[in-house]
Amino acid sequence: MQITAHIAQVLCNALAWPVERSAQIEAALTTPPNLALGDCAFPCFQLAKELRLAPNRIAQDLATKIQPDRLIASATAEGPYLNLFLNRRNALGQVLGEIRESPATYGHTDMGRGQMLVLDFSAPNIAKPFHFGHLRSTNLGADLARILAFQGWEVLRKNYLGDWGTQFGFVIYAWQKWGDEAALEARAIDYLVELYVRANRESEQDPSVREQARSLFLRLEQGDAEIRALWTRFRELSLEGFTRTYTRLGISFDSYDGESAINHKVQPVIQRFLQAGVAKESLGAIVVEVSDVLGRDIAPCMLQKSDGASTYAARDCAEAIDRWERYQFGANLYVVSRQEDHFAQVFAALGKLAVAEKWPVNWPSRCENISFGYVRGMSTRKGEAVWLEAVLDEARDRAGRFRAQRAEASARGAIALAAGEADAVSEAVGQAALLYFDVSSRRMTDLSFDWDAVLQFEGNTGPYLQYAHARMSGIFRKAGELGLTAIDEPGDLAMLGTDEEWLLVQKLRGYAGALRRAAELREPFEVAHYLYELASVFNTFYNRHVVLDVTEPVRSRARLTLVKATRSVLRSGLQLLGIRALDHM
Ligand code: ARG
Repeated sequence: MQITAHIAQVLCNALAWPVERSAQIEAALTTPPNLALGDCAFPCFQLAKELRLAPNRIAQDLATKIQPDRLIASATAEGPYLNLFLNRRNALGQVLGEIRESPATYGHTDMGRGQMLVLDFSAPNIAKPFHFGHLRSTNLGADLARILAFQGWEVLRKNYLGDWGTQFGFVIYAWQKWGDEAALEARAIDYLVELYVRANRESEQDPSVREQARSLFLRLEQGDAEIRALWTRFRELSLEGFTRTYTRLGISFDSYDGESAINHKVQPVIQRFLQAGVAKESLGAIVVEVSDVLGRDIAPCMLQKSDGASTYAARDCAEAIDRWERYQFGANLYVVSRQEDHFAQVFAALGKLAVAEKWPVNWPSRCENISFGYVRGMSTRKGEAVWLEAVLDEARDRAGRFRAQRAEASARGAIALAAGEADAVSEAVGQAALLYFDVSSRRMTDLSFDWDAVLQFEGNTGPYLQYAHARMSGIFRKAGELGLTAIDEPGDLAMLGTDEEWLLVQKLRGYAGALRRAAELREPFEVAHYLYELASVFNTFYNRHVVLDVTEPVRSRARLTLVKATRSVLRSGLQLLGIRALDHM
């Protein structure tokens, strides 16, 4: 059992609580501000109400009840906190042993075991611009998918493409008028947006264009073969473009079925809403009132417009029902920003249907909108719009230039990389800069993007973490030259006696907690923040102590073991964030 779980269980016993509650205790454990106060703290105020005792009293009682064991050296009350001191030697051996035994799974919990989780993310629109929100959704969604899968959930990655809607009327109109085969082949995504924008502009001068676009979309909805073939082609070419970028980022999806795929199930669902008496007609439209259940002033959920067209919300209702029928999910997450009202309306409308139709499982309460803040300042030389491909190119090129400048400035000189490898490193560093930026704050925070800041090798950046990893790999290269290897037997780990070493082990012990918080709060930031602290604690250790010293082979090998464990956890966390761990930069 992991040490933190062990501590929680001991506390649980001391409180005479059933073992099931030890997870709650584990989640509440914190780290005291300094080592003199202890290694692990349990804040007692949360229990005051339940136990009808002052927090300080609870802490004192607990302190007397806790018996030292192999891992817990002593317990003291410090105001409302119960502080625990660990047996450094045993704790250190256990943490490093656990990492060595299962480097790839260290830190994972089984919190999601046996549960299916649908994760709806990225979801760009075809023939409309891919904007910052899609980029951030792609990144946050991919991180959550990896983090939740690591915690045992069976994750279904869903790219609910915006591949249906009146924009296609405009695009098809424009295509029939100005269509250029070569341009479509060469740059489908951009070109379709251009067509859409051009037709839209024309419609502002000439209102009949809107009418023609509308009737073209109607023909598409009715299954007109010629129009349908065009739509299919536009969709496929766009998807090819998106997939190229996803592949570049190492992201894949289990399904690309979007709005068009659910379209045929929308009318029956609207009928169900009507029959259950949940939806009603209002000025020719069909709506579900939701302000009553949401307890705030919010527009109704519109399922059908007065012109008879179904809506984005109706499609999402039908889609959610379909997902439930297929997967019986434990959770259904939508990583989408600035659509809080839309999702509140959809979930509330479904909740009303659940009550009216007496569903055995109230699954709408398992649907969550994972929203996030705005990113300001992300642009490329090509302009203000965020073209994902262009941003990635820019990141790679800037990382390459930045690395070249650094290599020139550094007296020691970086390891010379072959040209192909240098490109791969630049690509990885550029991506790290970009991807880490998105998770360097909690997701609801609005961010200001700055190319120079995200590429720095110092500070809270992706390249900083990669650099820490590369530094550790460098230590192993050096150790190989000196003929030193990490220790496989835990015996000599007692050589790791300094506070810096202990603090690093303590950080390694905290990995599972960070992962659990990330999963519970749907916050990849928790992992990012943890890795940043881990790298910082490592750097402090590394700056104060000599790892490799041939005159002290036993200590050196013990320290190598510590470095190896740290590198393994850092690599595991970077992987969860989709950032490549590099051996040299
Ligand atoms: N395509 C939508 C947009 O770009 C996002 C779709 C999110 N997923 C959903 N099920 N509504 O705004």
